Amino acid sequence: MNNKTKYKSFTLFKRLWTGYLRNHIFLLLVAMVFMVIEGSTLGGLSYMLQPMFDLVMVKGDAGAIWFVATAILMLFVVRGITGIIHRTLLTKVSYEASTQIQVDLLNHTLHLDNSFHSKTSPGALIERVQGDVISIQHLWNTILVNAGRDSIALLSLLGVAISIDWMWTLVTVMGAPVLLLPSLAVQRYVRRKSGYLREIASDRTLRLDEIFHGIIPIKLNRMEPYQLSRFSKLSQDWVKSTIKTVAGQASIPALVDLAVGFGFFSVLLYGGPQIISGEKSIGEFMSFFTAMALAFQPMRRLGNVASNWEIMAASLNRIFNLFDTVPDIQDTISTKIKVPKNFDVSFDNVHLSYDSSPVLNGLSFNAPHGKTTAIVGESGAGKSTLFNALTRLVDPKSGSINIDGINTKNISLENLRSLFSVVSQDALLFDETLIENILLGNKNISKEKIKQVLDDANVTKFISTLSNGLETKVGPRGSNLSGGQRQRVAIARALLRDTPILLLDEATSALDAESEKFVQEALEKLSKGRTTLVIAHRLSTIHDADQIIVLSKGRIAEIGTHENLINQKGLYSNLYSLQSKPNKEVDVLSNNSTLSSNSTKSLLKLKGQSSLVENEHNYPSLNSKQLNWLQRGLIAIARKLTF
Ligand SMILES: Nc1ncnc2c1ncn2[C@@H]1O[C@H](COP(=O)(O)OP(=O)(O)OP(=O)(O)O)[C@@H](O)[C@H]1O
Ligand SMILES: [Mg+2]
Repeated sequence: MNNKTKYKSFTLFKRLWTGYLRNHIFLLLVAMVFMVIEGSTLGGLSYMLQPMFDLVMVKGDAGAIWFVATAILMLFVVRGITGIIHRTLLTKVSYEASTQIQVDLLNHTLHLDNSFHSKTSPGALIERVQGDVISIQHLWNTILVNAGRDSIALLSLLGVAISIDWMWTLVTVMGAPVLLLPSLAVQRYVRRKSGYLREIASDRTLRLDEIFHGIIPIKLNRMEPYQLSRFSKLSQDWVKSTIKTVAGQASIPALVDLAVGFGFFSVLLYGGPQIISGEKSIGEFMSFFTAMALAFQPMRRLGNVASNWEIMAASLNRIFNLFDTVPDIQDTISTKIKVPKNFDVSFDNVHLSYDSSPVLNGLSFNAPHGKTTAIVGESGAGKSTLFNALTRLVDPKSGSINIDGINTKNISLENLRSLFSVVSQDALLFDETLIENILLGNKNISKEKIKQVLDDANVTKFISTLSNGLETKVGPRGSNLSGGQRQRVAIARALLRDTPILLLDEATSALDAESEKFVQEALEKLSKGRTTLVIAHRLSTIHDADQIIVLSKGRIAEIGTHENLINQKGLYSNLYSLQSKPNKEVDVLSNNSTLSSNSTKSLLKLKGQSSLVENEHNYPSLNSKQLNWLQRGLIAIARKLTF
């Protein structure tokens, strides 16, 4: 993720103000008025001490007691009420603005393209949208209250002090300028440390996200100690950096303490003799001393504003860096934008690379409207990349991809993506009910249509086995459903989307024969009348395709119908006969001269693992569903190795 730009404090504040705080200017001003009132009550309080001492205590004026006592009571009442009002207003502004930042960040991140998301881990993004925004939300409230209320309090207290004796005031604050240089150094230190702290927080979330997503492979590979030690190390770093940041932050109030102590010391030495000689009254001295004592806390808090800002700036820097990351793939200028009417798909001499490694090397073919085109080829041949290029998740270096003869770059991204339904191996299911997963928030679908879709997708066949039927919660990523059931949910979604082009990326390859039958049936209904491109490893599933493309190293090696290709006795025909043998893994090992010795070894190992898994005593921590899942995964990998 681009995190290189180090913005100046002024730029960060300006962007925060213009983008998010300015909209709330009215509430901020009202809050400010109440902060001014609350802050000035401290000045009022210290001012009232002079009549209290001089009139009530020294002169014994009983009539003044009521006046002084009521005035002090009123000051505290005003202080309490104004405090509640400005805190509530500021919390409203702070939460509304920070939630807006989160929504905008999510919106921005959702529109960043594949190249960004394949390089940035979800954990790091979660930390940026959640952690960084929460950190600024918490801090700017504190900063606003401190800067607003405390600076007014300080000013009013200084006003009272000056009105009593400007010379005493000068003597007291003499130590303050000494604070400037050390506090600047501390601020720089705090900013550096808090930037690092945010990076560690991001790494921690990243690791947690990886661990919880990969819990089964972690258990199977006995990676628990490795993962734990990595997380502990990061956590130790986090604790150390937090301590350093807090120590840095705390050193400014400590410097304020020193300066204040020095101020009290000097004013006592200077003012004490003046009281003894009767030049000044005790009331004046008490009022002055209280003003200075009351100024102590606001001063400490103001001392912290700068370091709080530095911590907030570290998060703002990360947030604005993410905002400034622009997608590589964007809509072209609107005048060129066209809408396809017919849905044949063609690739014309397409070259595509990820960074500098070429994946598609001059790929040309035509997938006719309403027909099924199957794509087969070795693992890494570029099949999924072909789909990604078609949906513009990634753009080719040269050549053109067309729908109805229109270059996909001249179709708006929104329009283009609404042409496709993609069903792949991992159907993305959310932790909601089955029906919510199918409807995806679309409320305008008739009951008849829903029933038709559930029947066609073969979902109806398994609903009765679920405890709450369509209202059953499917669990995180659909973990309470079997692989085949998840696929059928994905097909039901695709049927509802009713798009003209269908992309199937190994939709059935992780399924056993029984599930595959149901899914295959549903897919056939789904693909009727649509331009369908299907990637398959199991060649038996694509017999009836209108054309089959055999892809090798990003180029077309063979193209034709199943019969044509079998008659050609080339790559496809060899693979087909290998896959048709009953004990194909063993046959592949003996017949496939192209299989490298490494692949052979891996395959044997996988076969071994797969039968190990059959014996559930070998993996006591897994339930039978997880074992079955693992076994299917191993078989799928073994299949890929044999292709
Ligand atoms: N986001 C990416 N960044 C860099 N390289 C990538 C990326 N995605 C794929 N590749 C590389 O591109 C090549 C083709 O990958 P692709 O996923 O298209 O293969 P495939 O034919 O679908 O293979 P499989 O049958 O295993 O799914 C591979 O060598 C892969 O390492
Ligand atoms: Mg693939």
